[in-house]
Amino acid sequence: MDRIRFGMIGGGAISQSHIPAIQANENAEIVCIADANEDLARARAEEVGAARSCGSYDELVEMADVDAVIVGIPTQFHADAGIKAAQAGKHALCEKPMARTLQDCRAMIDAHEEAGTVLAMALVCRYDDNWGQMRKMIHEGKAGRPCMWRCIAAGTAPGPPNYGEWYCNGEFSDGPLTESGSHDIDFLRYTFGDVASVTAYMNHMANYGSVLDNTIVILQFESGDQALVQWSWSLPRGAHSGFGGLDVIGPDGSIHQPRQEDDEWLIDISKADGEVETIPFENRRDSNTWFDGQLAGFINAIRGEDTPRASGEDGYKAQEVFVAAVQSMETGQRIDLPLALAIR
Ligand SMILES: NC(=O)c1ccc[n+]([C@@H]2O[C@H](COP(=O)([O-])OP(=O)(O)OC[C@H]3O[C@@H](n4cnc5c(N)ncnc54)[C@H](O)[C@@H]3O)[C@@H](O)[C@H]2O)c1
Repeated sequence: MDRIRFGMIGGGAISQSHIPAIQANENAEIVCIADANEDLARARAEEVGAARSCGSYDELVEMADVDAVIVGIPTQFHADAGIKAAQAGKHALCEKPMARTLQDCRAMIDAHEEAGTVLAMALVCRYDDNWGQMRKMIHEGKAGRPCMWRCIAAGTAPGPPNYGEWYCNGEFSDGPLTESGSHDIDFLRYTFGDVASVTAYMNHMANYGSVLDNTIVILQFESGDQALVQWSWSLPRGAHSGFGGLDVIGPDGSIHQPRQEDDEWLIDISKADGEVETIPFENRRDSNTWFDGQLAGFINAIRGEDTPRASGEDGYKAQEVFVAAVQSMETGQRIDLPLALAIR
């Protein structure tokens, strides 16, 4: 098959990760950039050598010389863009979170199934060697099972000058648990399998914006493993939290977040009686990893050589955890999955 001709929907921050991956892949080319800000679309197209730009994804998806699109616009518009891409016969790699409602997620999956086009989710942490190493250590039983993954993260919502204003605006976004935490939730599903239940506490704490910016979520997996995911964008601009990061605790020890020492990447496993096992590993950042690996995986799926590492169904299930978290917050109850589709 010839090179896959890409249209980038959105010329903002995330296009700066996707377009270099297209440019670095000999099986891909960037043809057009669509952005509601036409001046930005034009400038980005000139900068990256794309043949065209336009001001709307409706126009882009109808272009005969575009085979596939990457959806990288505010979350509120993902479903519309992803569905229109399918209806126009284009494959789609959709940024996370997939969409804001389960109905929209399902509609995007159905549209691509009907069209026979590939839908993949840009849940790029599945291509991250650091998180991958933690997953490998869990699967090798270094912490024992069942174990618990902990993620603690707090900061400020993304915003100007590097990102748009929309991240903390409830009209366009559901805040940190989906915009950032969807990576954690998806990676946890990738590691432990499906989530059995969700318990959450969430509120709006920040002195700006209108999203649920402070979130604490406890996940119980069908496997018996657990996770604590705590994501906040509640701090004022310019403030930093005292600590944050990832680890895994289990009956046989604790797997620590990988660390870098000079050029070497290391992962520490703390065991009984003060023993620490330190394992070096390769953190590649090459064409098999991160955005390059993700794009290569998407192209393989378009060519029928593989299935997407993160599918539409995975996007749906990550969003389902968020919807359940909202329900848990509202009812004060633990929420069992799967949810009935009509829940939100
Ligand atoms: N994988 C990751 O780690 C990661 C990182 C950042 C962002 N993202 C995701 O990428 C998406 C975009 O985020 P961003 O940081 O690039 O945002 P951004 O604010 O930097 O850029 C968004 C762009 O979309 C354009 N836009 C807005 N509405 C539009 C519409 N209806 N049609 C066409 N263009 C429109 C804006 O003009 C802007 O240029 C979000 O879903 C976000 O969650 C993912």
